[in-house]
Amino acid sequence: MSEASALSNLALDAVKAAEAAAIAAYHWIGKGEKESADQAAVDALRTGLNAMSMKGRIVIGEGERDEAPMLFIGEEVGNGEGPEIDIALDPLEGTSLTAKNMPNALAVLSLSLRGGLLHAPDTYMDKIAVGPGLPPGVIDLDAKPEDNIRNVAKAKGVTPADITVCILERERHQYIVDAVKAVGGRVRMIPDGDVAGAMGASGLGAPVDMYIGQGGAPEGVLAASALRAIGGQMQARLVFRNEDERARAARVGVTDFDRKYDLSELSSSDCLFVAAGVTDGDLVRGVRRRGDVFVTETLLLNSADHSVRRVQSELVAS
Ligand code: FBP
Repeated sequence: MSEASALSNLALDAVKAAEAAAIAAYHWIGKGEKESADQAAVDALRTGLNAMSMKGRIVIGEGERDEAPMLFIGEEVGNGEGPEIDIALDPLEGTSLTAKNMPNALAVLSLSLRGGLLHAPDTYMDKIAVGPGLPPGVIDLDAKPEDNIRNVAKAKGVTPADITVCILERERHQYIVDAVKAVGGRVRMIPDGDVAGAMGASGLGAPVDMYIGQGGAPEGVLAASALRAIGGQMQARLVFRNEDERARAARVGVTDFDRKYDLSELSSSDCLFVAAGVTDGDLVRGVRRRGDVFVTETLLLNSADHSVRRVQSELVAS
């Protein structure tokens, strides 16, 4: 069996695992308890992953073993048979969004053959992303936001005023908001959820031209795997706030702490990207309940053939 088919064969089971996580989180939508929502999604996703025919290894998970009882970095999942798979996951991307019943909460995972995903620590990451069809090098993480916006506008044959930049609404991003304003562009502020935010630039989800800002490193690798599948460019750099975070990075194998990662290093081989909607969002609808039946919608991207599928399932409550 080719490597691409070994991965593709896991697609439906990966979708099922994400659906289970989304349904588990659904019970906590709007309940103001983000930890409970996250734990429910973690438990369900782990059960789903363990039912899969693979020798799975979590490379991006809920944290390190001592602080995350399940789905910790290095945890082995799957039934121990089949291909060796590396998994990046965020069982509930948007814990606060779920607790507050706000849009864009997702259950997200990405699968690749061993070695295909950057082993990133649970720290922050500076990120910049654009969609497909632009010349290589059009964005540079080290350039000013104004210059990146001008370059993207030029490459798209529009003016900076036509460019929309997705930004996580955080004080640390005020300089990006100011830069967008200075060139006359548009912002799209999001309260949380920068996996979907970064994917917007690729034409899936909310219509934006670029994503710029600092968010979670795990979310950065997940977004990169989605962009690998659908096309786009991304650059990123880990951000460390203290020695403990550097030590975390060292433990997952990072040696160059200042490295500027390109998309092809964040997600370096074929991958399956799966995102099930918890609440309604820009990428997929959230979970609905009709009597005993849960209706879910899940995005499935396969970088091997650049396919984009939306799987709608009707699942009888167990
Ligand atoms: P949670 O799922 O933990 O709520 O995180 C959501 C998120 O908004 C991510 O999408 C983003 O990368 C990160 O948090 C940003 O972190 P912070 O809220 O600390 O700025």
